[in-house]
Amino acid sequence: MSKIKIIIADDIEETRNVIKKILNLKNEFFEIVGEASNGEEVLKLIPMEKPDIVLMDINMPVLNGLETTDKITDLFPFVTVIIMSVQAESEYLKKAMFHGAKEYIIKPFDYDVLVNTIIATYEKYKDRVVNGVNCEKDQITTKQGNAKIITFFSSKGGVGKSVLALNSAVTLSREYHKKTLLIDLDLQFGDISMLVNQYEQKNILDVIEDGQLDSYENIKPYLYKFNENLHIIFAPTKPEAAEYIGKDSIEKMMKILKKQYDLIIIDTGINFNDSTLYILDLSELVLFIATMEIVALKNTKLGLGVMKSLGYDKDKVKLIINNFTTKYGISKAEVEEAFRDGVFAMIPEDQNTVSISVNKGHPFCNSPKYDKLKIGKAIAIMCKDLVI
Ligand SMILES: Nc1ncnc2c1ncn2[C@@H]1O[C@H](COP(=O)(O)OP(=O)(O)OP(=O)(O)O)[C@@H](O)[C@H]1O
Ligand SMILES: [Mg+2]
Repeated sequence: MSKIKIIIADDIEETRNVIKKILNLKNEFFEIVGEASNGEEVLKLIPMEKPDIVLMDINMPVLNGLETTDKITDLFPFVTVIIMSVQAESEYLKKAMFHGAKEYIIKPFDYDVLVNTIIATYEKYKDRVVNGVNCEKDQITTKQGNAKIITFFSSKGGVGKSVLALNSAVTLSREYHKKTLLIDLDLQFGDISMLVNQYEQKNILDVIEDGQLDSYENIKPYLYKFNENLHIIFAPTKPEAAEYIGKDSIEKMMKILKKQYDLIIIDTGINFNDSTLYILDLSELVLFIATMEIVALKNTKLGLGVMKSLGYDKDKVKLIINNFTTKYGISKAEVEEAFRDGVFAMIPEDQNTVSISVNKGHPFCNSPKYDKLKIGKAIAIMCKDLVI
C-alpha cells in the first residue's frame, strides 16, 4: 500500500504537533505532506502536495474549516476531509458533513481512534468517482501545461467584456488559486491597462517587435504581474498598432503560453478578423456577453446564431447577461426562459462599484470583501463554474 498523504490544518501549533507525533509512530502508513494554520493555507498547499486526506480543525482564522471543506469539495474532489472537533462543537459536525467532510474525530483523540479513522476513511473513499470522473490526483497536473482558454466575446461594444474578463481573472487567480494569464486582445482599443492603473507597462506589440516570441523565458519580461498567480499581457497603446499584429504572431505566442498556465482568459474587441477567429477556435469556452439592452432588443439570439454558424456547440458558447436590471421590465425568469440553451451567469448592474473601480484602476474583485457585493458574488459563482 502506498502511504496516505496527509495535510494537518489546525491553528494551534501544539495540536498539530500532537497529531504529527501520533502519525509519525505509524510512518509506514502515513506521510505528512503539509501543515496549515488556516483554510487559505490548506487551499494553497493542495495543488502542490496533492494530499489524500486533510485533517481539518473547524475554528481557524482567515478561512474556517467549514468554508475550506466546501471549497475543497468543489475544487479538489479527490481530497477527503476529516473534521477534527471538540465535543462542544458537535452542532457543527452535521454542518461539516453537509459541506462535504467525510468523517469526523472528536478532540482530544486517542491514538487508535485517530489512526483507525484515517485508514478506514481513506480506504472507503480512495476509489470514489465524482460526477462520472475518477477522482485522480492527476486532475491538477494534467491541466497544467495545457491551459484552459476562456474568451470573453460579444458582437457589440461596451457590454462589459473587459470589466468581466479582468475581474474573473482576478477571482480565478486569488480565490481558486489558478495560475492565470489575462491577455488583452482588443488590439485597437484594449483598456485593461487602464483598469489596473498601469500605463507604462510593456505590451503585446513590444514582444513582437522585439522578436521575443520564441520562448516563455523571453516573453516573461513583457508580462505584468498583478499578483502571484495572475499575469497580464496588455494591448498596444495606439489603435494603429493592431495592424502590425498578425494571426501568425498570436498563434506562436499562444502555443508557448498555453503550456505555462492553468487558465488563459482573453478579452476581445469587436473587430472580427482572422486573429479573433483563431482565438475563438482555440478557446475551450467562449463567454458571449450581452446586456439587458440587447436582450430587450432580441439581438442576442442573432449573435449566438453567428456562434452556431461557426460550428460551436452549446457546450462551448455560454451566454452571460451583464448589467442585469429589471428596469427593462424583463424578469430574471423571463430572460432564462427566452434562452433555451440556458444563461450561464447573470451579473447584476452595479454602477457605483464598477465606475469607482474603473476610475481608480482597482478591480473590485480584488477587494477582500468583494463577495459581500452582489456583483462580486455573481462573478465568484460564475468563476466556480469555470473551473469545474
Ligand atoms: N455590471 C455592471 N454594472 C454597471 N456598469 C457596468 C457593468 N459592467 C460594465 N459596466 C460599465 O460598462 C462600461 C463598459 O464596460 P467594458 O469596458 O468592460 O465593456 P467592453 O465590452 O469591454 O467594451 P469595449 O467594447 O469598449 O471593449 C464600463 O465603463 C463600466 O462602467
Ligand atoms: Mg473592452
